[in-house]
Amino acid sequence: MPSAIDRCRNVPDFRALARRRLPAPIFHYIDGGADDEITMRRNTQAFEDCDLVPNVLVDVKHVDMSVTVLGQRLELPIFCSPTALQRLFHHEGERAVARAAEKYGTFFGISSLATVSIEEIGRATRTPKLFQLYFHRDRGLTYSLIERCKAAGFDALALTVDTIVGGNRERDLRTGFTSPPRLTLRSLASFAIRPRWVFNFLARGKFSLPQLEDRVPEGTDITVSVTDYFSRMLDQSMNWKDAEEVRRRWAGQFCLKGVMSAADARRAVEIGATAIMVSNHAGRQLDGSRSPFDQISEIADAVGGQIDIICDGGIQRGTHILKAIAAGATACSGGHMYLYALAAGGQRGVEKALGNLKTEVERDMKLMGVTRLDQLSREHLRYR
Ligand code: LAC
Repeated sequence: MPSAIDRCRNVPDFRALARRRLPAPIFHYIDGGADDEITMRRNTQAFEDCDLVPNVLVDVKHVDMSVTVLGQRLELPIFCSPTALQRLFHHEGERAVARAAEKYGTFFGISSLATVSIEEIGRATRTPKLFQLYFHRDRGLTYSLIERCKAAGFDALALTVDTIVGGNRERDLRTGFTSPPRLTLRSLASFAIRPRWVFNFLARGKFSLPQLEDRVPEGTDITVSVTDYFSRMLDQSMNWKDAEEVRRRWAGQFCLKGVMSAADARRAVEIGATAIMVSNHAGRQLDGSRSPFDQISEIADAVGGQIDIICDGGIQRGTHILKAIAAGATACSGGHMYLYALAAGGQRGVEKALGNLKTEVERDMKLMGVTRLDQLSREHLRYR
């Protein structure tokens, strides 16, 4: 009998299973976006406005799905974007995602708001590792995170530049989502009907945010919403000079996460970044902003060949990855594509999600008549 995870063939299948397994406030924290969620939906829909034009009669017996990004050769053209608070979604949290990424030979990232420490991931993970840095008002904290990543052997640092304030996430306001979860009369019922989640949350190790606990006077056992966190803790005066200073201190592969304009992509090259993640934070910040895929060709025209261009967001299918690469992306990354799977089944879920995408990329490359991803170009795309 195939398990529920084995039967998940695509992102919506994992989403449906995650919804059955998570208390509602946590599901909606993952699933929701800002304002009217137009950008969140558009991130995936954008791929539908563009069609692939295949070539035939090419020997495609062997295809090479590898890409080189942030100085690493990945066996898969998509990697797991860093996302926050993974222990809330499944008790295996970041450890599960790290092990699944390792199995598929791809990058994996942890957030400043991760529920495992930089040091543990450094020790335990052989796959390329990226750290997502939030620029805190407390410069001592910001810079100490950089030093800890160096000492732990991280391969890349991504400075998040699209959370200068928190987005208006109305689902979180409705459900009262905070981290760690606060049981209120309103949310009690949604937790009570998910006893397995409650057991795993309470019984399998204490929830913590090891990157922050020494620096926040109350520890990290205070319940805050992500929006409050951004507003209270992050520095709204962050600017290009600060980004350059972070790059100087880090002195390794350096990515700006959340660049959307060609002008900013050019500045990223000027300050010595080695990559940009073209991203709108999964539509969780500025609603009404353009999708990453829609921006790729413009950005590739401006900085292609000078900096790695990572298309982050909305990717649900192998064909989405091929379209992004044909438009000029070096590689792709995503959060939802593995987060629902994590919530649905821990490491096994994430492995199945990455496995599904790998099978699709291989099949789609063969159907497109290419044996390497660098054979894809805008010749293979037509916009409607
Ligand atoms: C979010 C942050 C924490 O979007 O990345 O919720």
